[in-house]
Amino acid sequence: MSWLQNAWYMGAWADEVGSSGLSRQIADKPVYFFRLSNGQIAALLDRCPHRFAPLSKGEREGDTVVCGYHGLAFSAAGKCVRNPFSDRIPAGSDIPAFDIAEKDGIVWLWGGAAGTAEPALIPDFNFVPDTPHSRTVRGYTLMRANYEYGTDNLLDLSHIEFVHKGTFAGQGVIFAGDHSVHADGNTLHSNWWMPDIAPPSVAQGMFPPEAKVDHWLDMRWNAPATMRLNVGVTAHGAGREAGFEVPQAHILTPADDHTTHYFWSSTRYHDLDNPEVDAMLLSLFGDAFDIEDKPMIEAAYDNVRGKDFWKEKPVSLGIDQGGTRARRILEKLIAQEKEVEA
Ligand code: FES
Ligand SMILES: [Fe+2]
Repeated sequence: MSWLQNAWYMGAWADEVGSSGLSRQIADKPVYFFRLSNGQIAALLDRCPHRFAPLSKGEREGDTVVCGYHGLAFSAAGKCVRNPFSDRIPAGSDIPAFDIAEKDGIVWLWGGAAGTAEPALIPDFNFVPDTPHSRTVRGYTLMRANYEYGTDNLLDLSHIEFVHKGTFAGQGVIFAGDHSVHADGNTLHSNWWMPDIAPPSVAQGMFPPEAKVDHWLDMRWNAPATMRLNVGVTAHGAGREAGFEVPQAHILTPADDHTTHYFWSSTRYHDLDNPEVDAMLLSLFGDAFDIEDKPMIEAAYDNVRGKDFWKEKPVSLGIDQGGTRARRILEKLIAQEKEVEA
């Protein structure tokens, strides 16, 4: 599998990483994330160069990581700083370190060489952290499928009508909508606009049942598989500004070719301090992503596991052009990196 290198991969929600750290596989590499005494996050390959024990199974001495197997010690930059058996540090004892950025409550890992990270390329998720006017519920699930199949799912929300019958199926509203896909540089937008429809389930209780509303689902994609969804509803003809919008994160990070970390969030601007609303939303989204999306994506992926997507000759229905274009952009970016390397 070829991974896009010069891109940001979500490694964790920021509060998942404490001083004892977190181990998570990212694009085939085991990564140990840990928080330093100054509050910043560091990340090292979670593999000691001696007999390959995970550093995450070792101990911390201040900002130093000590391997739990035979005691080699490493700085947060990956330098081997102590060999308990000799004053000499053997050549090749340093560990790869990763460039890390913490932004919007998200820990981002740069897939390229250390020291080459481009913070300006971090996609914007400024709605995620709680404010006096907003609350976000968040979740994580591990999906046994290739991450691009997750992208297909999220960039083609027509599946809502079929897969999400138990949660937010839209009573047919997708069929009343226009779907448009456009690219802005390497950022892709896959948007649904559903005017003059009955209030969808996301707007329940906010409009009289006989009201007509305009509804939108705007999905933004950045490579490798980082998505933001804006779910909006407004009174029919009143304009988007008069309505409300629920911003969501849907961020996929490949663990390996066949396994994907799925981080999701949803932000609201009402009922802020109501734990029952938190619990209701966590249960709704948990059901939608864990019980509805995940089994379908995993079962579909089982049918093509290890095969080349295009050689399987997937039929196009038009609604899937978002996923198709995301695959093409990703292929292009990976090919460009290979050209530069060659
Ligand atoms: S495996 Fe880490 S010191 Fe031996
Ligand atoms: Fe879904």
